[in-house]
Amino acid sequence: MRLFMLPLILLCSSTVFGLAPTGPWDNFNLAPKSKTVYPAAIHSTNGTVENVQRLIQNRGSATLSGQGSWVALDYGVEVGGLISMNFDVITSTSAISLSFTESPLFIRPTASDDSSYPSENTTFDGVLRVPAPLKTGFWTQPAAALRGGFRYLVIISNSASPVTISNVSCAISFMPHVQDLRAYSGYFYAGDPFYHDSDFLTKVWYAGAYTVQTNTVPLNTGRKVPFAAPGTWANNANLGVAGPIIVDGAKRDRAVWPGDMGIAVPAQFVSTNDLIPTRNALSTMFAAINPSTGALPESGPPLSQQGSDTYHAWTLIGTHNYYLYSGDTVWLKQIWSNYTKAVAFLEGKVDKTGLINITGLRDWARLGGGGYNAEGNALLYRVSSQYFILIVLTTSADLASYLNNTDQASAWAKNATALKTNFNNAFWLESAGMYRDNQTTTLCPQDANSFAVLFNLTSSVDQSKRISEGLLKNWNALGPVAPELPDTISPFISGFELQAHFEAGNDARALDLLRRTWGYMLYTNISVQSTLLEGFTGNGSLAYRWYRGYNNDPSYTSHSHGWSAGPTAALSTYVLGLSVSSPQGKTWIIAPHIDGGLPAAEGGFETALGWFGVKWAITKAPDGSNMLSLHIDTPEGTSGLVKAPTSMGSVLTLDGREEGVESMAVVHLSGGRHAIVFQ
Ligand SMILES: *[C@@H]1O[C@H](CO)[C@@H](O)[C@H](O)[C@H]1NC(C)=O
Ligand SMILES: *[C@@H]1O[C@H](CO)[C@@H](O)[C@H](O)[C@H]1NC(C)=O
Ligand SMILES: *[C@@H]1O[C@H](CO)[C@@H](O)[C@H](O)[C@H]1NC(C)=O
Ligand SMILES: *[C@@H]1O[C@H](CO)[C@@H](O)[C@H](O)[C@H]1NC(C)=O
Ligand SMILES: *[C@@H]1O[C@H](CO)[C@@H](O)[C@H](O)[C@H]1NC(C)=O
Ligand SMILES: *[C@@H]1O[C@H](CO)[C@@H](O)[C@H](O)[C@H]1NC(C)=O
Ligand SMILES: *[C@@H]1O[C@H](CO)[C@@H](O)[C@H](O)[C@H]1NC(C)=O
Ligand SMILES: *[C@@H]1O[C@H](CO)[C@@H](O)[C@H](O)[C@H]1NC(C)=O
Ligand SMILES: *[C@@H]1O[C@H](CO)[C@@H](O)[C@H](O)[C@H]1NC(C)=O
Ligand SMILES: *[C@@H]1O[C@H](CO)[C@@H](O)[C@H](O)[C@H]1NC(C)=O
Ligand SMILES: *[C@@H]1O[C@H](CO)[C@@H](O)[C@H](O)[C@H]1NC(C)=O
Repeated sequence: MRLFMLPLILLCSSTVFGLAPTGPWDNFNLAPKSKTVYPAAIHSTNGTVENVQRLIQNRGSATLSGQGSWVALDYGVEVGGLISMNFDVITSTSAISLSFTESPLFIRPTASDDSSYPSENTTFDGVLRVPAPLKTGFWTQPAAALRGGFRYLVIISNSASPVTISNVSCAISFMPHVQDLRAYSGYFYAGDPFYHDSDFLTKVWYAGAYTVQTNTVPLNTGRKVPFAAPGTWANNANLGVAGPIIVDGAKRDRAVWPGDMGIAVPAQFVSTNDLIPTRNALSTMFAAINPSTGALPESGPPLSQQGSDTYHAWTLIGTHNYYLYSGDTVWLKQIWSNYTKAVAFLEGKVDKTGLINITGLRDWARLGGGGYNAEGNALLYRVSSQYFILIVLTTSADLASYLNNTDQASAWAKNATALKTNFNNAFWLESAGMYRDNQTTTLCPQDANSFAVLFNLTSSVDQSKRISEGLLKNWNALGPVAPELPDTISPFISGFELQAHFEAGNDARALDLLRRTWGYMLYTNISVQSTLLEGFTGNGSLAYRWYRGYNNDPSYTSHSHGWSAGPTAALSTYVLGLSVSSPQGKTWIIAPHIDGGLPAAEGGFETALGWFGVKWAITKAPDGSNMLSLHIDTPEGTSGLVKAPTSMGSVLTLDGREEGVESMAVVHLSGGRHAIVFQ
């Protein structure tokens, strides 16, 4: 029997999630226990609503009486899906409508928050009217009227006649391919004794993970384009070549955006390892390549925006990330010829200066960005240097020869080296200690400077530290106000800045940024206190991009945007210190960043090769100095490097032995369990 069971278990392990150990961290997992969720609380009522408390958790019937009476139900966290309810007692003239909102600021009987189109009146979407006359019994919202993201549901009586309702529920529509939404393959747990909520770091890790789950949606639930008529919305558009698929936001845009995936997908990898929706999104982009120019679209259908060199680069970077995590060589071969065409498209824009001239100007909303632009050149550098993993480090020799590794890889690497020199000559502004946006400005943008540190365009740790210092000048109490998009705090770009501070060795500064920007988003009572905002203004208002495409409509801002999930992967990669350096983690790196003052951290994730776990704690040596004790657990057959934190000189013991390990700052290990003490 056992022999028979084993292959079955192996067979299932690629699609079944849930290898993460259980523990106190599960209390912070925001995903619902059931795919049918009920209101958790009554937010407010108006007029006459009898027995309203019975609507909480499906306890019974409530009656709304009189034109204009309403109840606002609170699901407790961000949810998304179709509402259903039972009409228990009606009259021939009873009438009701529904409105939805993420932020409590837009709880109102007249309109939902906006998703179809940004409009200064904040009421473009309107309400959903249940067709009259009502019929006794069970009713479900039409599929096309799906709201993909909301926390509050308002039920409004539109007639003088009463209506008695019960069984108000929401059928969760995201993650359609997964039964147990809480069965994560990864976890993270660390106390933060320096913050008002010592569970903050664990909470924000799970907030990012859940945000990405709410952005993982069925193929036929994209926002309709051309946008629905005023007073309505529709989320029934096809999103790509296959589903489920990862989109930018739960409420909107509900379309594939490769730039957003640059943050969302690493978060997805360390939490659920649910990579099929990512593959489907990337396949969608490659299938829509312009056959004559090699240009990739900026976004997936039905938006299908064109004309973004930076988002073009992000699809290529996303390909690297997906392959690094999954080792999916079958897919890489399928897209390879379009991939190389798309790289050639960017290389073709490099002129005699050795820099790319950015002509596809659409981007993450930042201003400027054209010509010899630092951000665009940094992204091209990342694209041209990532071949090492795509080709040389592939797990399969067959793939390496199929993809003609050596010539291709060395040609790309040569261009990357040249570009690094050109980038530094063109953009480094010594007086600022940062990179400027282009050669005719002294504006030093948040995006290019963060990317430069992260993608290794700097030539020394000192240079990275100066940039980290320079980025600090943009901060206010809520985080970095981006010089390239004034009056904006972008959690997307700040997710890269967060990583840049860790890379520069400024762990305490990285944690400070985390507490300011993500602390604000997680606790402010104008958001959903569960998933993460798309962006906000310098003073914390929801009027993100008020002067830049969003028509000063604060109700249009998304409160569940995967591009804001930066802390999830950053906490795993830097605080825990765990990352993979070749496909599926065949090789790995463990390098905890302990200089932010945290006493301990633990966590891990899963790949197709198995479980990768790390636990560390700071302890006191007899002489009063700090010691770091580290326990690691990686799959047999893998190997990796353990790096001593800069504040710890060397290894004291390795697996209990002292001999031959003194003064080692880097330890090479094979898979399995190991215990290391640094001092
Ligand atoms: C509150 O309900 C009453 C009727 O019950 C209605 O006349 C009034 O317009 C409603 N007010 C608001 C703000 O919805
Ligand atoms: C809100 O503004 C839009 C135009 O942006 C308009 O079409 C719509 O009718 C307005 N809604 C209301 C309720 O006035
Ligand atoms: C209550 O709603 C659920 C869906 O959430 C539905 O399956 C069930 O049939 C409803 N109950 C009744 C009595 O109609
Ligand atoms: C590659 O691009 C062509 C258009 O040139 C497209 O028809 C094809 O579907 C793409 N293949 C893949 C696997 O994306
Ligand atoms: C150069 O950068 C500045 C500051 O971001 C911007 O205003 C300007 O438009 C940029 N130039 C080009 C050609 O994009
Ligand atoms: C970049 O390319 C565009 C389009 O070819 C051209 O108009 C522009 O002059 C170029 N910019 C620079 C700085 O050469
Ligand atoms: C590899 O090189 C061979 C010979 O030059 C060529 O026929 C083949 O198409 C190349 N393969 C890829 C995937 O580029
Ligand atoms: C390297 O850069 C040159 C000059 O821009 C370009 O012609 C060539 O195609 C690039 N090589 C590769 C492999 O992309
Ligand atoms: C960063 O670039 C330098 C060359 O400028 C190189 O020596 C170093 O290995 C690179 N670091 C990483 C992590 O790739
Ligand atoms: C948020 O909290 C503040 C301060 O307690 C309070 O004044 C405000 O009404 C609250 N806002 C919402 C939308 O709950
Ligand atoms: C916050 O910023 C927005 C956008 O700049 C502005 O409209 C609003 O008045 C500011 N709010 C406060 C309270 O200062």
